[in-house]
Amino acid sequence: MTKQGFERALQKLTPKRREVLEHFLAGKSDEDIAQSLYISKSTVRQHIRNICQELGLKNGCNDDGTSQRANLIALFAQYKPEFLQQATLTEGENKGSESILLSNTSTDNKQDACVTTQITEVPLNKEDSGESDHNFVGRDDDIASLDKLINKGAKIIQIIAPGGTGKTRLAQKYLEIRFKTVLEFPIGKERKDIALIDNLLEFNLCKLGEEPGQEFMVSLQRLKQKLQTQEIGISIDNLETALDGSGKFIEQHRSYVELLRILTDSSIKSITLITSRERLCEGLDITLYKLPSLNIEAWYEYWHHQEINPDTPILTEIHKAYGGNALAMKVLCNPILNDFNGDIIA
Ligand SMILES: Nc1ncnc2c1ncn2[C@@H]1O[C@H](COP(=O)(O)OP(=O)(O)OP(=O)(O)O)[C@@H](O)[C@H]1O
Ligand SMILES: [Mg+2]
Repeated sequence: MTKQGFERALQKLTPKRREVLEHFLAGKSDEDIAQSLYISKSTVRQHIRNICQELGLKNGCNDDGTSQRANLIALFAQYKPEFLQQATLTEGENKGSESILLSNTSTDNKQDACVTTQITEVPLNKEDSGESDHNFVGRDDDIASLDKLINKGAKIIQIIAPGGTGKTRLAQKYLEIRFKTVLEFPIGKERKDIALIDNLLEFNLCKLGEEPGQEFMVSLQRLKQKLQTQEIGISIDNLETALDGSGKFIEQHRSYVELLRILTDSSIKSITLITSRERLCEGLDITLYKLPSLNIEAWYEYWHHQEINPDTPILTEIHKAYGGNALAMKVLCNPILNDFNGDIIA
């Protein structure tokens, strides 16, 4: 199904089906959905079967629709991964508030002296590397690659990959591990919610104990001075939201280019990680890092820790079907745990 077809079909769903879908994407069991919506379990299943049909997942629906559920999740991982993420994150918190699906279906948002920061390439100890953190599996090689790029002089690295690959998680973890102070510039997930650079700049200057200036360029110079003296990690998340489809900033947010110019300046000690689904093409000195998907060993480790028995060839098939996508790895756990008690073969 094309993205347009998906959007159209999503908008045509009845309010009740959207509600069921939202609960389903949050990983709730049929029983929990039934209780929350005061309907029977079989009605929940009927709704899910109908949703599958309406979203073009017609083939092979069995009685309870389980064969189609993974496909339904895959469809959202492909076209609306933010719904999976938000639904999962807001589980239990958005009762009574406007439905995520209802509120989003109509939007388609989408030369000074040279200083080289040196990252010590010692093997990370277990705690530092996050090896003991099962919400951060399989990224040791990527951490080592980022270390290398920085040691070669990269000031800004753009981590690029499709939605749900794990860009944000990697950037956050890397900065947390390598830097004492981290500044965040979250651009926003939706075109209509793009954060104003002036506000983010003001917030981050205050975080550094600096007074923001009256003018944008004055504030920017103050930030530059700070970054010349301190090794600070900077995160710019979801850059693609502010891009126009050809890698340029949309007109009303072009001031971000000025910030990036400062951050690429060879005199500053700070390091910036940008996460983006789309490549930035503004002629700036930015190093590209194409983030690969998680490998099968990482999925194995993650599911093992979630108490799903991963010792089955099905794991390899599912991993392949979802291209190793980290969000799918996480989201698929919920139906497996809720509906099949962690038995992946069922
Ligand atoms: N290395 C990892 N180990 C375990 N879980 C992970 C890992 N990376 C990502 N995840 C999980 O996958 C989800 C999606 O990851 P993340 O938000 O980092 O993707 P993304 O590439 O930034 O996607 P988007 O383009 O939508 O912003 C996260 O909520 C997290 O739970
Ligand atoms: Mg992200």
